[in-house]
Amino acid sequence: MFKHYAEYYDAIYSDKDYQKEILNLKKIFEKMNGKFHLGNLLELGCGTGGHALHLCPFYENYTGVDLSGEMIEQFAMKLYPSHFAFQANRCGYTTRNTEFSVTENSNVMSIKDKNREVSFHILNLAKDSLELNISTSFDTCISLFHVFSYMTNDNDVQNYLKNAARYLKKDGLFIFDYWNKTGVKHLGLESRKKEFLISAGKIVREVTPLSKGRENQADIMIDVKVFDHQGKMIETFLEKHPMRFFYKDEIEIFLSEAGFKIEMICGEDKIEGNVAPEESDWAGIVVARKILCPL
Ligand SMILES: C[S@@+](CC[C@H](N)C(=O)[O-])C[C@H]1O[C@@H](n2cnc3c(N)ncnc32)[C@H](O)[C@@H]1O
Repeated sequence: MFKHYAEYYDAIYSDKDYQKEILNLKKIFEKMNGKFHLGNLLELGCGTGGHALHLCPFYENYTGVDLSGEMIEQFAMKLYPSHFAFQANRCGYTTRNTEFSVTENSNVMSIKDKNREVSFHILNLAKDSLELNISTSFDTCISLFHVFSYMTNDNDVQNYLKNAARYLKKDGLFIFDYWNKTGVKHLGLESRKKEFLISAGKIVREVTPLSKGRENQADIMIDVKVFDHQGKMIETFLEKHPMRFFYKDEIEIFLSEAGFKIEMICGEDKIEGNVAPEESDWAGIVVARKILCPL
């Protein structure tokens, strides 16, 4: 999942309004804490950094976690392009970038620049445990664009929440969004086909949901074909994204079991009025505060 999609992800979601979502986060913080300051920030399912890149002025240190090394690579290339230029040129390389230092092993990359430390961890939040230096703790955790809905069974959800709670400071905020079951049932899962222009030509993406009578999840089949300017197909792949949809009260139970106090659960565009997710909302957004340490 997201292995091949990573290269085209930013082009496919180029019209996603990350800026608006950052404003939503700002509204949430102003409601909760009075000011928009994220402190040490943990992001679960950071992807190619759509949110984090906009959030740079508001955090001190940053840790991004994702299942897909390919998504993280796209993100890191945007954040530290000269490091990756350095990697690409390693053989014939002569000048060293002195603005930052990089430590890497197979699934962790940590980049220290003058002002802060940025780390990336490749791991499966549903199965693995995030292992960090014991002194690391976070003021805020975010997980946006429906990463939570990739947790398709109860064990996955519990492990993911444990990872969120593990290094979050007491009273730290956890903000995530998810597919709202009442909205998905009412609005309905549909097949869609869309084209996206890229410098090499165009991408044609077809999305087909397969729910096979299941109540709370569907496999979203994503068929991607990439064509050059002459119309010749240069790449094709199919990815399956299993997605789960949740009722608000299910989310409440999972969160309280994981040691979180719920501050708000509302429709993703209904933050100001704090209106609970309803039939017209495909997604809900949750603001929870860590009150207990996970066992
Ligand atoms: C729709 S993308 C969102 C990426 C980013 N948050 C954004 O807003 O653009 C979902 C991301 O969640 C990651 N993801 C899905 N399941 C995961 C898991 N079990 N553990 C870690 N990351 C996961 C995917 O690799 C992908 O980068």
